[in-house]
This record gives sequence, structure tokens and C-alpha cells, in this order.
Amino acid sequence: MSSASAEAATDSVAAKPAHFHSSPGRVERLLPRFHQIRDFTNSLCADLEPEDCVVQSMPDVSPTKWHIAHTTWFFETFILKKFNPGYRPEIPQYAYLFNSYYNAAGDMHRRDLRGLISRPTVREAQRYRASVDSHIDNLLSSADEKLLDEIEPILILGFHHEQQHQELLVTDIKHVFAQNPLYPIFRMPKTGGRSSATPPRPVTNGEYIAFIEDNGYGRPEFWLSLGWMTVNEQRWQAPLYWTKHEGAWWNFTLSGFRPVDESEPVTHVSYFEADAYANWAGARLPTEFEWERAALDYPIEGNFVEGENFHPRALSVSGDDRRLHRMFGDVWEWTRSAYSPYPGYRAAPGALGEYNGKFMCNQYVLRGGSCATSRTHIRRTYRNFFQPEKRWQFTGIRLARDPQ
Ligand SMILES: [Fe+2]
Repeated sequence: MSSASAEAATDSVAAKPAHFHSSPGRVERLLPRFHQIRDFTNSLCADLEPEDCVVQSMPDVSPTKWHIAHTTWFFETFILKKFNPGYRPEIPQYAYLFNSYYNAAGDMHRRDLRGLISRPTVREAQRYRASVDSHIDNLLSSADEKLLDEIEPILILGFHHEQQHQELLVTDIKHVFAQNPLYPIFRMPKTGGRSSATPPRPVTNGEYIAFIEDNGYGRPEFWLSLGWMTVNEQRWQAPLYWTKHEGAWWNFTLSGFRPVDESEPVTHVSYFEADAYANWAGARLPTEFEWERAALDYPIEGNFVEGENFHPRALSVSGDDRRLHRMFGDVWEWTRSAYSPYPGYRAAPGALGEYNGKFMCNQYVLRGGSCATSRTHIRRTYRNFFQPEKRWQFTGIRLARDPQ
């Protein structure tokens, strides 16, 4: 990376035509938000060593370095290259390495081979990040209202895109660390303690252990056919990251390897496991529409990534409070709704139309956000989605029952 080309690109911003006038109000709102979100990604990486940041432990997992660079690529590709005519990328080949799945934005490197890329180094990826940030600074500071009208929606999409990658960064490094017999610690939880929450609530580890001990994983009557096939092929006997150790269940967490706390919401279960558990419990999973209706008056508060616990919080299970609890935060809740377009949905034109429309097949909707989701990212209407066998996200279970 030559600093000369960085300066040349910066100069081109400074030499903008005279009709670009700054818009202090909007820029003063957007730029601090931009830096806040970019800084939070950096803060998640603060305790990681370069060696941690390059491992890809399975095809679904991306190395931390890739998240750092790909979120940067997003702003470079969809804002700088589009709205700053003088912008010249320092390393044009990054466009190939750090494009995820946008065919309209050009060819891309294979997702499952991201862990084989040792260059750029972590430090170079951070420099790329800083360089794009300063170009965004310059572009926004000198943009007039008309240009801001065009940039703002894409910038905000970029904020949310980065927040999605912050969540993946956390769940991916958990999977990476879980492969290491030394069980590295990502971060100790910032706040401890139990909430005063009571049922109805997400299914707890204790309740899930009852399913395991009732031979839930060995009884086909509870399972979807595809789920039963997966359980047998993968030899699942418990949620991901659980191990039986001297007769007791332990689990790997981002603060280390520790005994399973029966009062915590169960997490790292697939749709198949959530559905089988619900059948065993004589209930079912809610539809996404039931979930959203139930969450209508529920405040969006809970255990999100800003709390820096990086794990679901334990529930207090006493009392006879029948209100809903923990609708937001802690664990994403599987619904029985397929991730399909709503009536009237049309993919946006251009490369950004690939953001989610093309994934509307073979996936289930999850609701509510998790301990790795940003509070400012989640909404009551937010549809997350994953294939039914995935379980490396903080996914959990909420039951629904039909009226008798
Ligand atoms: Fe992405």
C-alpha cells in the first residue's frame, strides 16, 4: 500500500467541484454514527492476537480479518467507488478477496477458502480500514444535500451490514476458539447476576437437559425426517459446544469452558433440535407472525452485545408471572416460518438487490436478536434467517401452544 496513492485519492476529494457544499446537520449526525459503529468492530477485536484473526474453522465461519476487511469493502464499493469519482483503490485486488456474494459487483474469492489467505496481514487489513474511513470522512464532509440524499440510505445500510458482521465476528471467533483444547477466553462477562424474569420464557438448559435425558436425540418420533437424518449423520447428542465431563454437562463459552448453567436459555441449537424439543414438550414453535404480534407491546430491552456478556443471561424461574419475557436479546428464537418474500416484495435494483432476496429459499426465520446483536440493530419486525441445520449462532427456543 503506498501512501502516495492514498494522498492522491484524498486530494481528489479536496478538489471537488464547487457545487459540493457541506451539510453540517446531517453530516454531524451520520459521521459520528459511522465512527461509533466502525470503532465497535475494532473494540471487539481489541483482545485478539493476529493468529486468532486468520483461522477459518468451518466454511460458515469467516476469519476475523476477513470481517474487518469485508465491512470496509462494503463502504468502498457501494459509496466511495460510486459517489467519489476521483477515488482510486490502493489495492484493486481487495475487491476480489473481500466481496462476499455480490455477483453484480464482480467475481469473488471462494468463501470456504478464506482461511488460506495470509496476505494482506491483519495489520494491512486494519490500514485498509483506516484509509477507507478517512475517505468516507472527506466525502461526507464535503457533500451537498443532493449527494447526501443519495448516500445516506446506503450509508445506513452499511451501518447495519457492519452490525450484522459484528455478530458474526463474535459467533465465528467462538467457533474458532472452541476448536482449541486450551479453550481460549475471548472476554469475561461485563455484568453478572440473574434477572428477575419468570415464565413464559425461552427454554432453559435445565429443561433441555430433561429432553436429552428422556433420550430425545434417540427417538425419531419427535424429529423431522431431514432433522433425524442430520442428527444421525452428525451424531448430535446435545447443543453445539456441550460436552459431558465426569457425568455433568459442560459448555464452551466466550469466557471459557464451564459447567452448563441450567437457568440460562439454551442456545446453539438448530431448527431441527428446536422443533424436536417442541414436539417432545407437547408444544410447537411460533410462526414469525405470532412472534411479532406477541412482541408488539414488549420493550426492546435485554442482553445485547453492548452489555458485553457475549452469552445468554440466566433466568430466575420462580413466580407465577405469565407475561412474556426475554423476547429481545439473549438468544435468537427459531420460528416455524420459512424465510420467503412478503407480498409486494421486490429486490432492490443493482448489486444491493442481492443483499437478502436471493437467500429466500430453504431457510427459517429467527426473531428477537441475541447477546451478540446490537440493540440499535434489532427491530420488532427484524427477520434473521438461517438454514435449519445451522447452530453456531446464538439460537434458542420459545414454545407456542394452540388454545385448547
Ligand atoms: Fe457482508
